[in-house]
Amino acid sequence: MSTAMTLQQMSARGEAIGRTLPVPALVTLSGDLGAGKTTLVQAICRGLGVAAPVTSPTFALVHEYEAASARRVVHCDFYRLESEREVAALGFEDFLADPMTVVLVEWPERAGSLVNQPTLALSLSHDMASADVRQLREEWAR
Ligand SMILES: Nc1ncnc2c1ncn2[C@@H]1O[C@H](COP(=O)(O)OP(=O)(O)O)[C@@H](O)[C@H]1O
Ligand SMILES: [Mg+2]
Repeated sequence: MSTAMTLQQMSARGEAIGRTLPVPALVTLSGDLGAGKTTLVQAICRGLGVAAPVTSPTFALVHEYEAASARRVVHCDFYRLESEREVAALGFEDFLADPMTVVLVEWPERAGSLVNQPTLALSLSHDMASADVRQLREEWAR
């Protein structure tokens, strides 16, 4: 089931997710360009207590931030990923193995089996009815 959300609602929901995420965690964010993945990551990071400005890692592929309670946030954007081998070269599996790290991944489809067991899978899509509404779907691991 997906929920229609304004930017303000998306922001509030992202902050709530950030406040309740366990650590370690892997969160995947799927959706087209402009669907709101980075916007939602920014809200989740606020909820996690990241003080630094969170920007899109489209070119760097990975940005790291310090969060509250000695946690680390790793924000990946695999849009420009060429191969799964490149993910390994980034040290991605070490991020996943770290007990104090929350990993947030845009374009998880590009990382194949490395991200197939997320704590939370988020899917975003544009809404036909309004340019400022997005559909958000949350699937928590059980
Ligand atoms: N309801 C909404 N939820 C999220 N983003 C929205 C919403 N309405 C408008 N937007 C805008 O859509 C854009 C989404 O861009 P971005 O988060 O970079 O997308 P992506 O990372 O998926 O490519 C932002 O400019 C954001 O302000
Ligand atoms: Mg993005």
